[in-house]
Amino acid sequence: MRIDIITCLPRLLESPFSDSILKRAQDKGLVTVKVHNLREYSTNKHRTTDDYAFGGGAGMVMMIEPIDRCITSLKSERTYDEVLYMSPDGETLSQSLANQLSLKQNLILLCGHYKGVDERVREHLITREISIGDYVLSGGELAAAVVADSIIRLLPGVLNDETSALSDSFQDGLIAPPVYTRPADYNGWKVPEVLLSGHQSKIEDWKQEEAIKRTKSRRPGLIS
Ligand code: ADE
Repeated sequence: MRIDIITCLPRLLESPFSDSILKRAQDKGLVTVKVHNLREYSTNKHRTTDDYAFGGGAGMVMMIEPIDRCITSLKSERTYDEVLYMSPDGETLSQSLANQLSLKQNLILLCGHYKGVDERVREHLITREISIGDYVLSGGELAAAVVADSIIRLLPGVLNDETSALSDSFQDGLIAPPVYTRPADYNGWKVPEVLLSGHQSKIEDWKQEEAIKRTKSRRPGLIS
């Protein structure tokens, strides 16, 4: 898979992809992540990517031209399945959307800033809008990192058996059960006996019960 992220603040996207699982996934050749600086696609002398809104109103608006030039240049190299615009009023990211996107080959993620992008970008250049929740961030970069992380960890070979995404919360419609590690007794706070029993089928039953209990109490909406 290949993910191209378009931003006017590329430094914001350096660290999420240079550590841990997301770095290993790239090192293993399972995903290519490229961050593109929108300023490089600006044609004006100061390399600006935003301008005043027609009709007035507070806040700058991201211009269509640099975005179009960047997307056109990427599309001249390969075909993209989706051009996703990060926006608080987009469709909310869910595990099922991450699962769907993880099956794609090439994705573009466009990060918005200021008061958003010229509406014509949304009308003509993007295929889908994604929000990571009902709150407003300063820009789409952190949202793009969240979206990319949720997708990349699902790619075959990125996680090993022990960290498999199949045991993630939401993957089976349930919240994951609690986990414990050594010591088995910390200041009298004990690990549930069954986990120390070595009885694998009892342990699996316990995990399932805990996952259901936890989902009912924390996210009852997930259980129909
Ligand atoms: N840009 C600003 N806020 C956002 C959000 N909640 N989700 C996605 N992109 C955003």
